[in-house]
Amino acid sequence: MKTIDELLADGVSGKRVFVRADLNVPLADGTITDDGRIRAVLPTVKALADAGAKVVVASHLGRPKGAPDPAFSLAPAASRLGELLGSAVAFATDTVGSSARDTVEGLADGQVAVLENLRFNPGETAKDDAERAGFAEQLAALADVYVGDGFGAVHRKHASVYDLPKRLSHYAGHLIATEVGVLKKLTEDVRRPYVVALGGAKVSDKLAVIDQLLGKADRLLIGGGMAYTFLKAKGYEVGISLLQEDQVPAVKEYMERAEKQGVELLLPVDVVVSRTFPDLKTKAPTEHTTVDADKIPADQEGLDIGPKTRELYASKLADAETVFWNGPMGVFEHPDYAEGTKAVAQALVDAKGFTVVGGGDSAAAVRTLGFDENAFGHISTGGGASLEYLEGKTLPGLAALED
Ligand code: 3PG
Repeated sequence: MKTIDELLADGVSGKRVFVRADLNVPLADGTITDDGRIRAVLPTVKALADAGAKVVVASHLGRPKGAPDPAFSLAPAASRLGELLGSAVAFATDTVGSSARDTVEGLADGQVAVLENLRFNPGETAKDDAERAGFAEQLAALADVYVGDGFGAVHRKHASVYDLPKRLSHYAGHLIATEVGVLKKLTEDVRRPYVVALGGAKVSDKLAVIDQLLGKADRLLIGGGMAYTFLKAKGYEVGISLLQEDQVPAVKEYMERAEKQGVELLLPVDVVVSRTFPDLKTKAPTEHTTVDADKIPADQEGLDIGPKTRELYASKLADAETVFWNGPMGVFEHPDYAEGTKAVAQALVDAKGFTVVGGGDSAAAVRTLGFDENAFGHISTGGGASLEYLEGKTLPGLAALED
């Protein structure tokens, strides 16, 4: 994989460089609540601009349905990028139309433009190869060189991620190079004990990675909504907690395999429960109690791991040489249910080994809960992408950069 360093060494002054970033940031009423992904692509954008390139930044945001939708505009991300760069950033109000063409045409050397959300065009995510190729051709007309730096989207076979680099000379940006370097440390010659904490809502999203990790990790700590399917598989009643009943057989099989292979698979021993799901907007205080994991009342749902589990998980992380954590332990967006996620984040901070926070919600959680980002070995910008890498899958966006 050629990297941006080679491109910079060859010189980019005056060249139009297309940077596929992942500016898919969380927004609340049009305001960015976590700009981590924008900051993560800054080194690449800045290096190219400083070298005199005309930088064309493109990304998706959310999942619009292949047509313009103001709720998913990249305009707030473009203005935040400008603030962080300390210079004006031009914004094209379409992806490959007259606004994009005029905006790119108007760039001086060293200037930066952001295109509107790529997913406003149906060709970006089309399953049909020809439709994606058609959109990629139009994007290719806007640039001379391609830099892939949207790590969070490399698992998507989308036009700007997969088809476009095939049409332009292509390089990996600083972020992708860093992310891949970190993931290699988790897959090749990993330092032990290797402890993985997995949370999040759906167990079905994590089955493939659990399957892989059973052959690699020494300990697996399970939390979040997905834990209740494990507790059910253990024979416990889980009340009205999140449950994927159809996944119970698969989870049982993993629990048996873990035992056979000597992998410690840990489940919550106590949970914080409530009769109602909290209001995440008002964050109004809720009625909640802590119960042992085998005593969840029939009319209540588990919303966080309890204090005994927090202590147990922290002790299992303390001596880890390598840690990967993906997915919150509870509904961390509400203060009544944030303690489990906080405890795991703190345990990573305290762990002596190399710690990786795997993207998406867990990355946003450590920042919104006020942790210092530098206290972690690495905070990935890719949730789904890092999981699929750990599953051993070929990621289209990385494969395209390799060719
Ligand atoms: C993410 O948030 O994981 C990436 O930006 C990819 O987004 P997607 O899941 O909508 O493709």
